[in-house]
Amino acid sequence: MSIADAVIRPLYLMTEQRHDLRGLTVRDWLLRAMAGLSRTQTRAARISFESANQRPEFLSISRLPAMIDRYAAGPRRWDKRRPADKVAGRAIEVFKSVRDYLPGDPAETRAIELACGDGRVAMHLARQFRSVTGIDLSDENFADEARSSVEIRIEDAARLSADNGSADLLYSFDAFEHFTDPAAVLDEAYRVLAPGGVLYASFGPLWNSAFGPHQWGRIDVPYLHHLFRAADLDHFSDTTGRRRLTPNVNRLPLAYFRDLFSLRDHRFKRVSYVEKMNVSFVDLIDQHPSCFRTKTNDFDELCVRSIEVVLKKR
Ligand SMILES: C[S@@+](CC[C@H](N)C(=O)[O-])C[C@H]1O[C@@H](n2cnc3c(N)ncnc32)[C@H](O)[C@@H]1O
Repeated sequence: MSIADAVIRPLYLMTEQRHDLRGLTVRDWLLRAMAGLSRTQTRAARISFESANQRPEFLSISRLPAMIDRYAAGPRRWDKRRPADKVAGRAIEVFKSVRDYLPGDPAETRAIELACGDGRVAMHLARQFRSVTGIDLSDENFADEARSSVEIRIEDAARLSADNGSADLLYSFDAFEHFTDPAAVLDEAYRVLAPGGVLYASFGPLWNSAFGPHQWGRIDVPYLHHLFRAADLDHFSDTTGRRRLTPNVNRLPLAYFRDLFSLRDHRFKRVSYVEKMNVSFVDLIDQHPSCFRTKTNDFDELCVRSIEVVLKKR
């Protein structure tokens, strides 16, 4: 067990749960200590990864129960916001990220949300923009409360019914890692956007990162797709009464998305491009480097969790 696991993380969680300690410098100090430790751990993991042999390697599935015990009890790892706050926060994120780049006044903006899910982000943005249309392959999750302000269309993001140049803004959350053909979606965005129109996309976890298979609620162990054979994981799920990991994601690597958003300069100007990291579980890479080295040659693939990009049509 590392110092971070044994001392710093428990202390951090304690300060998080003790409201009377909030705001004290001890928490800031701990955060700084954790950042320093995670930099050291990441450096160590990168060295192990780069010097690992490339023989295919997986762990024995008999090690999984202990890992479940360890990681299920660990610090919470994903969005901690209440669902209502998350939705409102996302609407603000989109608005702030695009408002200075829109071709006209926000009140005149015609927006489309790609893969809108429950439509609640669109519902918030409908107050800022002239119109917001939500598209998704299915409307089964679409919330009743969104129906009065958001038009929902059931269609594929790669084949929109919207006319050429009929939208000023296209945006999406957590969808590009689900689209079967993200390049086709980007081409379609180019067709539907008016000149100067903006595309905003925020998405992840990416396939090679710790939670790439979107395994929450199934087998809650980071990097399990690199550590264990898929057939062993299925058998484990079946024999322990869990839902199988059936990741409904495109499994595309970080390298694909880097190319996707950089090789279309003749069509889009890149307003911003941010890769967000998750290095909380690099100790697993350090301990089992061959499991990772045989799945990718690029350490970044394992650490970049998500991407946020803003493009403007030329
Ligand atoms: C993880 S959910 C995200 C939903 C919503 N954006 C959110 O963040 O809550 C992924 C969504 O993508 C939709 N989806 C996947 N492929 C699609 C496609 N080709 N066209 C439209 N929607 C798609 C799914 O139906 C699902 O609603």
